[in-house]
Amino acid sequence: MMSDVDLKKKAVGEKAVEYIQDGMTIGLGSGSTVYWMMKKLGALVSTGLNVRGVPSSLRTEKWAKEFGIPLVYFSEVSRLDVSIDGADEVDRNFNLVKGGGGSLLREKLVNDAADKRIIVVDDSKRVQQLGAFPVPVEVVQFGWENTAKKLVSIGCEPALRFVDGERFVSNNGNYILDCQFSNISDPFTLHEQIKRTLGVVETGLFLNMTETIIVGEEEGMTILK
Ligand code: 5RP
Repeated sequence: MMSDVDLKKKAVGEKAVEYIQDGMTIGLGSGSTVYWMMKKLGALVSTGLNVRGVPSSLRTEKWAKEFGIPLVYFSEVSRLDVSIDGADEVDRNFNLVKGGGGSLLREKLVNDAADKRIIVVDDSKRVQQLGAFPVPVEVVQFGWENTAKKLVSIGCEPALRFVDGERFVSNNGNYILDCQFSNISDPFTLHEQIKRTLGVVETGLFLNMTETIIVGEEEGMTILK
């Protein structure tokens, strides 16, 4: 049986498909909420919907192939009509923390290329202020210990991500440092500070990058625009 959270994820994932029209090129995000969007999209493709997708992770690429969603190389498109992605936290200003699944860099590149960015979340992801979820920061493997020390000096506790007892390596061959800050009052300044740190590739702070958030709730859903 599906949990309440999974039912919410399924509902918003499927809802997001309503924003997709014939002929569109779609940024396919990552994560368990996006899974439901892709499953539904695959069903529509099988009945004749003509779309193509750019996946933001190898896992998403695998799902797209499973569900029969045609793919196109990112390098072959200049703009995407829409992107649909999940998030780990969303605040009331539509700023996000992403990267819980470790795909933040490709997700940011894909979302940035889209004319309309839709985020699908269950209501546990809505927060007053970002930062309870540690900010994932993608760093190059070489010298990551020194990069981590520099991040400590800007006020966080970085933890190298492990999955199944192994150091997690992103689809781009980098490590992820999950950075717990005591308080993120200004995500824009924080993003700039982290980005200026040598060794950092990208942060999981997605700021001013979202037009619509679909939030799954106990009784239905809310669409924030
Ligand atoms: C992966 C992400 C995901 O979108 C985020 O972690 C949300 O995942 P889920 O829908 O499984 O809760 O940013 O890097």
